[in-house]
Amino acid sequence: MAEFIYLLNKDTVIIKPPKKSPLFLRTIVLLFAMVCGVYICIICLKQITSVTKIKFHNIQVIERPSADSSIVSRLEAQVPTLHYPKPETFSRGECTQNPVRFFAILSMQRSGSGWFETLLNSHINVSSNGEIFSAMERRKNVSTIVQTLEKVYNLDWFTSASKNECSAAVGFKWMLNQGLLEHHREIVEYFNHRGVSAIFLFRRNLLRRMVSVLANSHDRYAKLLNGTHKSHVHSQEEAKALSSYKPIINSTSLISDLKEVEMTALKALGYFNSTRHMVVYYEDLVTNHTKLRDVQEFLGLPHMELTSRQVKIHKGSLSDFVKNWDDVNKTLNGTEYESFLRADY
Ligand SMILES: *[C@@H]1O[C@H](CO)[C@@H](O)[C@H](O)[C@H]1NC(C)=O
Ligand SMILES: *[C@@H]1O[C@H](CO)[C@@H](O)[C@H](O)[C@H]1NC(C)=O
Ligand SMILES: *[C@@H]1O[C@H](CO)[C@@H](O)[C@H](O)[C@H]1NC(C)=O
Ligand SMILES: *[C@@H]1O[C@H](CO)[C@@H](O)[C@H](O)[C@H]1NC(C)=O
Ligand SMILES: *[C@@H]1O[C@H](CO)[C@@H](O)[C@H](O)[C@H]1NC(C)=O
Ligand SMILES: *[C@@H]1O[C@H](CO)[C@@H](O)[C@H](O)[C@H]1NC(C)=O
Ligand SMILES: *[C@@H]1O[C@H](CO)[C@@H](O)[C@H](O)[C@H]1NC(C)=O
Ligand SMILES: *[C@@H]1O[C@H](CO)[C@@H](O)[C@H](O)[C@H]1NC(C)=O
Repeated sequence: MAEFIYLLNKDTVIIKPPKKSPLFLRTIVLLFAMVCGVYICIICLKQITSVTKIKFHNIQVIERPSADSSIVSRLEAQVPTLHYPKPETFSRGECTQNPVRFFAILSMQRSGSGWFETLLNSHINVSSNGEIFSAMERRKNVSTIVQTLEKVYNLDWFTSASKNECSAAVGFKWMLNQGLLEHHREIVEYFNHRGVSAIFLFRRNLLRRMVSVLANSHDRYAKLLNGTHKSHVHSQEEAKALSSYKPIINSTSLISDLKEVEMTALKALGYFNSTRHMVVYYEDLVTNHTKLRDVQEFLGLPHMELTSRQVKIHKGSLSDFVKNWDDVNKTLNGTEYESFLRADY
């Protein structure tokens, strides 16, 4: 640098050549360069620290558990694994190049999963194949479970819900008591290995769920709808007929029964903690349709309005649907479950 300036000075005719000794000039230039260097270093350091600060900030934003407890997954921000299955039974045709996501709806009976599944299946690219593990022989042991899962995720499982060629997400619903908790270790391993995303669907109001369980199991033999048992209905008349039965709730075991259901859900969440998952509550879906947008986002689907023809069976105050309501009211009064008495859904 010193030489460059020196040369410059020599070549410029207008500027008088410096009279001071070249050594003195060199020292000045050297000092100047040093000051410049130090200044540049300080600027750089400042920028680096602000960049790392931004990075940390971002990580915190991602990792901070959502204020909305319906999505507890730390991993939810990750994108779902993309698959390109090659079904044995048909060719994916025009959609061969379209990726497919694998999912499973993990739920409990009478938690709205039937309704939720019809909503999902109203999406042109979703195949949710129903409660395939209700059949005992498919969940006999881990190898029959894995065989069944392989067939589903290879798109070789056919139900009325199958979209075949152009599925962008394929799955089914799986109740916690259908071998899921029993074989949780192997299933979690399978989910993580194959990139299966889990959607937990739970109900907040476990008392309402209990009423639904009792009414549904009564209808299994009472068959209130013209002699056929129905778990889900499509008209107000059918809903009215089914809700005309008022179950008696065992108030002695009520609290421990509710606690047990709660614990089962927590156990499942604990077991499947390492999988990519989200938690959805039935009540939130009922009151807030943007929850369905979250689900579609979670599955990496193009967004669509989802619809279902199903009609809610027990609508209105729960006191109208329970025979021994006063008992139940007294039992839950002042307990952690008191809010179940009043909640609308
Ligand atoms: C699992 O069940 C199937 C069907 O009953 C049987 O053929 C198979 O041997 C069993 N596998 C194991 C590992 O027990
Ligand atoms: C969804 O399905 C439609 C019609 O079958 C198809 O044209 C489209 O490519 C599919 N989209 C995705 C993302 O798979
Ligand atoms: C029972 O069947 C009759 C005649 O088919 C029909 O009019 C009525 O709506 C049915 N009732 C219910 C509750 O489905
Ligand atoms: C209610 O629950 C208690 C405690 O579990 C049990 O002893 C009792 O037999 C139950 N009553 C009915 C009617 O099922
Ligand atoms: C899931 O794991 C994280 C940390 O690994 C832990 O903080 C969290 O409590 C776990 N959740 C459940 C439901 O066990
Ligand atoms: C509805 O759900 C969305 C997405 O989960 C959330 O951002 C919004 O706050 C919810 N609205 C209400 C009224 O709870
Ligand atoms: C509920 O509990 C409160 C006190 O905790 C009591 O004053 C009230 O009478 C109770 N109600 C019923 C229906 O038992
Ligand atoms: C429970 O019982 C109390 C006292 O009889 C009554 O005031 C309250 O409205 C009842 N709660 C419900 C949800 O019915």
